[in-house]
Amino acid sequence: MSIKLKQQASNVMATYNRFPITLTKGKGSYVWDEVDQSYLDYTSGIATCNLGHVPNMVKKAMQQQLDRLWHCSNLYTIPSQEALANELVQHTVFDQVFFCNSGAEANEAAIKLARRYAQTVKQSNQYEIVTFKQSFHGRTLATLAATAQEKIQTGFNPLMPGFRYLPYNDKDALTDLIRPETCAVMLELVQGEGGVISADPSWVQQLVQQCKENEVLVLIDEIQTGIGRTGPLFAYQDYGFEPDVVSVAKGLGSGFPIGAILAKDDVAQAFQAGSHGSTFGGNPLATTAGLATLQMITDSNFLQASTEKMSYFWSGLKQLEDKYRSIKLVKGKGFLIGIEVEEKAIDYVTKAREDYHLLLLVAGPHVLRILPPLTTTQAEIDTALTKLDSLFLSQSS
Ligand SMILES: Cc1ncc(COP(=O)(O)O)c(C=O)c1O
Repeated sequence: MSIKLKQQASNVMATYNRFPITLTKGKGSYVWDEVDQSYLDYTSGIATCNLGHVPNMVKKAMQQQLDRLWHCSNLYTIPSQEALANELVQHTVFDQVFFCNSGAEANEAAIKLARRYAQTVKQSNQYEIVTFKQSFHGRTLATLAATAQEKIQTGFNPLMPGFRYLPYNDKDALTDLIRPETCAVMLELVQGEGGVISADPSWVQQLVQQCKENEVLVLIDEIQTGIGRTGPLFAYQDYGFEPDVVSVAKGLGSGFPIGAILAKDDVAQAFQAGSHGSTFGGNPLATTAGLATLQMITDSNFLQASTEKMSYFWSGLKQLEDKYRSIKLVKGKGFLIGIEVEEKAIDYVTKAREDYHLLLLVAGPHVLRILPPLTTTQAEIDTALTKLDSLFLSQSS
């Protein structure tokens, strides 16, 4: 056996450009680094820690579950999985849930369900799924083929066939929405990774109507928009239509990995024993985290309170938009916010972290992305607005 003498700075593959701080602790809207410097975290682990860091209710539920049972195969009924599925169904238009472990896996399941529904329930040969430019649906081979962004697809040829891309928010392009081989249309209602672009409601309405008329499924990717991020529990609930399938992940587990798709009975029947599966999907720990998270978010006043905080933050951001010429546009929905800037967005992110101890993200070269936890307080929003004011002032001088 050979002994490795080489000491590398990191043995983790370089799939991310990492920021030069290490986060060691988190509570609520704050995180701390290795030298105990605190930061106001308005990234929520990229729309994942919607209840802030280490939320007490989820922590307690997880601690109890850690003492009982960590893993159990899906060959047995898992009570927390049943309860979480029931809770998701109670708060949506859906009937059945499939659990997995991430956003990409949820979209993968949605793609499989759409094809299988077309081919086994409808008994057609339809297979094609239409998606949109600047979309982001994940990094597996099927979901990167669904993602209409060259930078995500480069180097992974041959791409999985069966996807066609249309421009987003383009009514004229809807004339070519559905072809004989089309089984589904998949979209985000706010394109998060693609630059924080909200879907125009009248475009969505026209798209959905065409799909319904042609019995083509509407799959809504709510990986980033779901679990209260844009205001309601799911973004589709503000758009006045019923999707056939919704995919969810990120915020569902408060940071514990979990993904899911929700579907109505008619569509869900396409998955039978053996047609899809996952070893870890919906395991006791993951669904305990999901159940406690969802119970807190669906608690009587929670979403009402977070929506009020969203409006408060937006009015402050709009004032900054008026004040600074370097801000071209504040866009998005709820707490999925993009600030379009003239200069490089990453320079703002760096300065915000280094000088103001405020964590932000980018969504493309000229869009800053802000994703506060839904639990953030009005006082924290004031702090964030003051920091952003100083940030834009410093960049404009
Ligand atoms: C809209 C959307 N879909 C899918 C994904 C993929 O999720 P995951 O990274 O959990 O696979 C993401 C992740 O950013 C996303 O924002």
